[in-house]
Amino acid sequence: MLGGTSEARALVEALANRADLAPSVSLAGRTRNPLPYPAPTRIGGFGGAAGLVTHLRAEGIDLMVDATHPFAAIMSMNAADAARLAGVPLLALARPAWTPQPGDDWQEAESLPAALAGLGAAPRRVFAALGRNEVRALEAVPQHHYLIRSVDAVEPPLAVPLAAYVLDRGPFVLEAEIDLFKSHGIEVVLAKNSGGTASAAKLAAARTLGLKVVLVARPPRPDVEAAANVGEALAWIDARLHARSARPASARRGV
Ligand SMILES: NC(=O)c1ccc[n+]([C@@H]2O[C@H](COP(=O)([O-])OP(=O)(O)OC[C@H]3O[C@@H](n4cnc5c(N)ncnc54)[C@H](OP(=O)(O)O)[C@@H]3O)[C@@H](O)[C@H]2O)c1
Repeated sequence: MLGGTSEARALVEALANRADLAPSVSLAGRTRNPLPYPAPTRIGGFGGAAGLVTHLRAEGIDLMVDATHPFAAIMSMNAADAARLAGVPLLALARPAWTPQPGDDWQEAESLPAALAGLGAAPRRVFAALGRNEVRALEAVPQHHYLIRSVDAVEPPLAVPLAAYVLDRGPFVLEAEIDLFKSHGIEVVLAKNSGGTASAAKLAAARTLGLKVVLVARPPRPDVEAAANVGEALAWIDARLHARSARPASARRGV
């Protein structure tokens, strides 16, 4: 399991006690104190697709699930390449993107720079939930007043004159998001179109308060078998195991 999402954790939790599987997890190591998974967990890059092939072979992995974040585009491409090279069936567990509902004031941009341009030239009070990889891009548009939420502290702080920081990790709830936005006078919500439920409350809060939302669209993903939720992923794993049932259980390892 290539992890790093709430869906990855839910899937590993669903598999952890099964006698016919020995799941293992890989994390990139971006979060300082990741919530533990109930399975052996390795942390750190593999060294590209070739490194992942080596890992798949060394660990005797039979099935691979790419449950990384929808914006983890490099890892997903490497997973597709490695699966093909190592002959390991691959499933992408990819939650659907968010779509606007009636009353939403959304603008979806192809890239983060385009999204930042979409904030406009005039100073706005912006809530930014971007992740540590991307948040530093805000320095390119320093005229806004930012409220930045992240799991780990943004160190060093951004080189912008007006920024407040809040440390938190999802899942988030609507009432708390509304309170947060009101107390900081937020006018615009800036986020990636991650999809899923854990961080959707900010969009519902924006809808409730009539705020503008600027979303970064997802990067392209490789063309591999995909599941939209944990239930579909479990069904895929069971179907694969069923197809391999002629092999002895001792020969089946890994997810
Ligand atoms: N991007 C986001 O918005 C976001 C949000 C929440 C969580 N995450 C999680 O954070 C992790 C890193 O995201 P990213 O955007 O930096 O990915 P990325 O840009 O697609 O990946 C960059 C490199 O990080 C390593 N890597 C990524 N995911 C890995 C994993 N699960 N296990 C081992 N190595 C991994 C790989 O290094 P090597 O080439 O050396 O193997 C990969 O080439 C992912 O697991 C993702 O699920 C990302």
